Amino acid sequence: MISKIGVLTSGGDAPGMNCAIRAVVRAGLKYGLEVFGVMDGYKGLVEDDIFPMDRHYVSNIVNRGGTILGTARLREFKDQTVRQIAVDNLRKRGIDALVVIGGDGSYMGAKKLTEMGINCVGLPGTIDNDIASTDYTIGYDTCLNTIVDAVDKIRDTTESHQRCAVIEVMGNHCGDLALFSGIAEGAEMIITPDHPIPEEEVFESLRQLHDAKRKRAIVIVSEKIYPDIFAFAERITKATGFEAKAEVLGRIQRGGSPSAFDRILAARMGAHAVDCLLDGKGGICVGMVNNKIVDYDIYEALQLPRDKHVSVLRLIDILK
Ligand code: F6P
Repeated sequence: MISKIGVLTSGGDAPGMNCAIRAVVRAGLKYGLEVFGVMDGYKGLVEDDIFPMDRHYVSNIVNRGGTILGTARLREFKDQTVRQIAVDNLRKRGIDALVVIGGDGSYMGAKKLTEMGINCVGLPGTIDNDIASTDYTIGYDTCLNTIVDAVDKIRDTTESHQRCAVIEVMGNHCGDLALFSGIAEGAEMIITPDHPIPEEEVFESLRQLHDAKRKRAIVIVSEKIYPDIFAFAERITKATGFEAKAEVLGRIQRGGSPSAFDRILAARMGAHAVDCLLDGKGGICVGMVNNKIVDYDIYEALQLPRDKHVSVLRLIDILK
């Protein structure tokens, strides 16, 4: 039977991570466990930056973006000898198990630690929505709303000047943020890694819109498709008749107070993670599928194919 657990956040921060931390701490304490916070992800495990948390430590954080535990991306954690230092630091405090809140990279670390004797449960904390074992990741909904809010503002000035706005959004290699913000905005074009559009086709469509006297065009593009989005916008200007302006929304997308949806998701997932650890489970990750909280083996989860939302694509043309 376990008596002490730790919690950390790892990878890019995401709104709602604090709600997940709170849920883990409060659920853990409720079941009589001692709960420890680990600062700055796996880095804090290796550097022994670990401290006991009480219920007050997580008071008043449900509405705060970012993560009170800090986060980091520690490439060295792939190295078994580095992980052994982390295991030793946990063992000397008697910490038997860990909740890791982060993206797929963080999940691998959690699986490896489990194989070294520390049961770990992963929670999907990332704005990218790129984890196939859950319909939604913690932070995605807030980020989507932040993007929609920003694009609403860009739309105003784009229309006033009869321009084309080319807006690059985050998502790493997953197009969900671009696809669904584009649908929410009624964007004229949406370009994602799953649904790329040849440049000539982009120009042709925009040319037609310009010739049809459309007052503006909104093009939402996933990051990492065009090496230089500003150069892409210049090519649109030359080829279409629209004056195109590129905008990179950047890290504003990762900040801000979490939406109600993300807070509730994080609370449900955090409590479930503690249940799993109490049941002696490890090397698993929590998800929400069809509104039910579920858990998968991490290796299996990382093999699952991601939904490319093909059925949603037709909306782009139908609603244009
Ligand atoms: O994984 C979250 C994310 O925001 C991605 O969308 C983005 O590609 C990356 O992190 C940026 O990370 P950083 O802030 O470390 O450059």
